[in-house]
Amino acid sequence: MRGKENFLALILLLVHCVLLSQAVISIDNGGYMGIVVAIHRNVPEDEQLISNIKELFTEASSYLNTTTKGQVYFKDIIIAVPSTWSSKPDYEIVQKNYFPTADIRVDHPNPYHENNPYTLQPGGCGEPGQYIHLTPTFVKELHTKTLEKYGNAERHLVHEWAHLRYGVFDEYGLPGDPNYPAFYQENDKIVPTSCKQGITGWIESSDGGPCSITIDGTVNEDCRFIPDLSNEDAKASVMYLPYIPSITGFCDNTDNQLHNSLAPTKHNNLCHNQPTWTVIKKHPDFSRRFKRSVGFTSTTPNFRTVQSQPGSEGRYVLVLDVSRSMSLYNRQPIKLLHRAATRFVEDVISEGSQLGIVSFSTNTTILHNLTQVNSATRMKLRNSLPVNNDLGDTAIGKGLEEGLKVLKSRGETAEGGLIILITDGEENVEPYVSQILPKLQQEKITVNAIAFGNKATRKLEDLTKLTGGKGFFFADIQGNQPTNALDSAFMDSVTSQADLEFRPVQITDTIIRLISSKTIKKITLDKELGRSTIFTFTSEDVKYINIILVSPNGKIYDVNSPEYTKDDRIKMRVEIKIPDAETGQWMVTILWSKSIPGAVSFSLTSEPKDPRIQPVRVRSWLSVVQLTYPSHAKVYAEIKKGYNAVVGATVKATVDRPMGSPVDVLLRDNGAGPDVTKNDGIYSGYFTQFNGNGRYAVVANVINDGNAKIRRGSQSSSLIPIPKFKNLADREKKNASASFTRDEFVVSKKPPGPPEVDEEPIEVFERTSNAGALRLDNHSSNDVDIIPPGRVTDLVIISSEQKDEQKLITLRWTSPGDDLDVGNASFVDLRASCFVEDIMKRFHEVDSFNESHVIKGSLVPLPPGEEQEITVEVPDAIWNAKPNSTINYTRIDVYFSLRIVDERNNLGDLSNIVAGHFRKIAFVLVEEEKSPKWWVYAFGIGAATLLIIVVIVVSCRNKGKRNACTNTSLTSSA
Ligand SMILES: *[C@@H]1O[C@H](CO)[C@@H](O)[C@H](O)[C@H]1NC(C)=O
Ligand SMILES: *[C@@H]1O[C@H](CO)[C@@H](O)[C@H](O)[C@H]1NC(C)=O
Ligand SMILES: *[C@@H]1O[C@H](CO)[C@@H](O)[C@H](O)[C@H]1NC(C)=O
Repeated sequence: MRGKENFLALILLLVHCVLLSQAVISIDNGGYMGIVVAIHRNVPEDEQLISNIKELFTEASSYLNTTTKGQVYFKDIIIAVPSTWSSKPDYEIVQKNYFPTADIRVDHPNPYHENNPYTLQPGGCGEPGQYIHLTPTFVKELHTKTLEKYGNAERHLVHEWAHLRYGVFDEYGLPGDPNYPAFYQENDKIVPTSCKQGITGWIESSDGGPCSITIDGTVNEDCRFIPDLSNEDAKASVMYLPYIPSITGFCDNTDNQLHNSLAPTKHNNLCHNQPTWTVIKKHPDFSRRFKRSVGFTSTTPNFRTVQSQPGSEGRYVLVLDVSRSMSLYNRQPIKLLHRAATRFVEDVISEGSQLGIVSFSTNTTILHNLTQVNSATRMKLRNSLPVNNDLGDTAIGKGLEEGLKVLKSRGETAEGGLIILITDGEENVEPYVSQILPKLQQEKITVNAIAFGNKATRKLEDLTKLTGGKGFFFADIQGNQPTNALDSAFMDSVTSQADLEFRPVQITDTIIRLISSKTIKKITLDKELGRSTIFTFTSEDVKYINIILVSPNGKIYDVNSPEYTKDDRIKMRVEIKIPDAETGQWMVTILWSKSIPGAVSFSLTSEPKDPRIQPVRVRSWLSVVQLTYPSHAKVYAEIKKGYNAVVGATVKATVDRPMGSPVDVLLRDNGAGPDVTKNDGIYSGYFTQFNGNGRYAVVANVINDGNAKIRRGSQSSSLIPIPKFKNLADREKKNASASFTRDEFVVSKKPPGPPEVDEEPIEVFERTSNAGALRLDNHSSNDVDIIPPGRVTDLVIISSEQKDEQKLITLRWTSPGDDLDVGNASFVDLRASCFVEDIMKRFHEVDSFNESHVIKGSLVPLPPGEEQEITVEVPDAIWNAKPNSTINYTRIDVYFSLRIVDERNNLGDLSNIVAGHFRKIAFVLVEEEKSPKWWVYAFGIGAATLLIIVVIVVSCRNKGKRNACTNTSLTSSA
């Protein structure tokens, strides 16, 4: 148990170290700095947007101070104007494209959310989100329609900021959502889902009539809760409906912001029923280290408006290790480096970019100053690449310093520059990386690091993380292996600065074994692609390789075609570049003339024909880059077409490990376990199969095997506009109320159907995306399984049934695995109680279910990712413990939760908690044995109709000090 707690604490600690190639926000004396608000290049020029952004953030800064009890505010904000707008004297010219890494993006709407602000938040509790999306309309109409529709926009911004920075989730429900419904039942009452109880309002169906409810108490989708905006008692929560004027904070444990841990909110589920403020306070921003030392007198932010220079394609400096280590152990990393760097300079880096080249060993050398890449300079740049190593030491810090100097050499700021560092060694000359790092951060430079082999310094992870860069790892430095991994790292580095819609698409990047003289592979080029299509075949044995391509219409490309080039001296590859390629299925034939088997690395990239019609794009990343065993990482892949999610694709991450063969991790978009939102186009999976210390390189492979579909928009946390009365008479008729009785609804037979989805099939595609690398330390190789099964996050009640004295309940969840989401676990530990606090705090003491209670299904876990359903009989022992305070209710709540157990008795985390509601009719039948027959008869008719509820006062075992499940002022579990 202790060990497991440590395990979880460790995970919580580690989740703050996220690598997302993001702008880097820092905090100083309570003030956030380096926040970037960027406007997309397609947003029409409108200076009103800039002044409204300033107003919005100024107001939001003050509200952020209020809601965090005077602890933090927005201090420095960069507003990045696109290069498509005309230049103005008050825009500072920068050489950086801020949009792709901006924290707040002003862009055309995601069709799912329309103008509602939302945050892309794919991580778990406490993990930061990726960006906040505001639409130009939302910002432009700040004082008019936005105010009318949403209330004060600054409050929405603070709500989104809490998603982005602190990793808390929404505290409202959504109509028709089975996991997070808009209303839930507490005994006889129907309660709107919210963080704090006692928020009052009215209910109305969207057509202005009364709300309807099914017989089992499920509120139909078209019912809305309309909060009373004049209620002064609603002090929390910002994560609920911040437009209620009296809301001044997040839910916590104090009286007027008391957290409701019963509400089925996404926050309660993913953050284990802790109040939002409890989670926020654990963020490092609120630790003593960052706490402000003196009070701030103003929360007004400083704004800096910048504009990227038109046509600036990015500035890069290659910082290359040529020290002794680059030739060690008979391996020849320097040769591979030279090849990959040559391919990069000749073929990858785009025309118009600026490139400089630095090498380092004991000393550093500027091999080429910053130069614009064009057909004339490309060869000069290539010729200055280092061919040999020397016998010097490894002065990585010095190399970085020189790289910085190159970026600044023309008297410009280095801001926005990217250093691509390649090394295989441990630094042993001052200045060290740690001494240079603050300077790089201050100059706002990003460093991507490519590590060669397991000896590369452990400092690389800090370097990339703290500069907002990405780390790549290339293990295999035996001279005869294909080397595309390096190419994709270079490619990723130079395209990460470009707007997404202009980046090339990597269709495949794979190693093909050549076991016979002829190998055939079919590959599809999607209809949106075709421009600048490049087929590349890399192998140390390229001279034995010949390629024949057949286009979808039968056109042949081979050694005689002008598009075909082969370099078997330096670049070691065949390349076929087609400016305007046919789309559809291509046939690739690889002819191999060596008598022993070999391998070739095959990559295919292409660009959209029209940037307005975007192809499917894949982006992948890791939750952590540095881990201490025992622990785990999460791997994510986002598959989208514009802002639309692609669901139903098959996504596998292949992980290269320090030893042995690679392993595959299946990523799922099922809203269970590591995946926080179902069908949002973000696929998630755990990686636990560590087999030693060192670096793990992760590549995501995506295919559509016919089941993939496009959904309109992509779901994420978003705020909903203020609901308005359709029929004002409703408001005058009744007083605002915090909960509702069943007679306030009309009973309808219509079961709440699943929300309508707008999906269309999509043609065959495949993609490869490099997620980068992570490093593991402290691995212990004893074979004992210490990794617990995953947590069930989507437990729902499908139905509850009462027949005679039998009370049956059917539950459904997605099965996790033995080690988080991998492998088959052993047992489902399902328990129930009338006391929710017992479930939360004393789960192991609560009544459990065994196979004798199972009517349908089984307590043996299904394989990971499968939906498991079980019908169990609720034992009388649970029922008989019902609390005293429920005597006057016609329904009794019974709470269910489960955890998955593996063969070594490692216990998974407790699932979300669900409540079943049983009519008290059962008491009649329990009483029957002792009561005269006439008595049962008198009530029997009512019972039979299933509509009339019989209430019998029954004495019950009162558990005294415990809080009952029906108690409406439950304190939280924290
Ligand atoms: C920040 O919030 C605290 C607590 O609500 C308040 O006392 C203080 O005056 C605020 N500071 C500013 C500068 O508004
Ligand atoms: C690079 O520029 C610096 C300063 O402008 C100059 O001293 C140096 O000689 C140049 N180096 C090369 C390799 O061109
Ligand atoms: C590094 O520079 C120093 C001083 O300029 C020189 O003495 C030394 O030989 C150089 N080392 C190498 C390995 O080139």
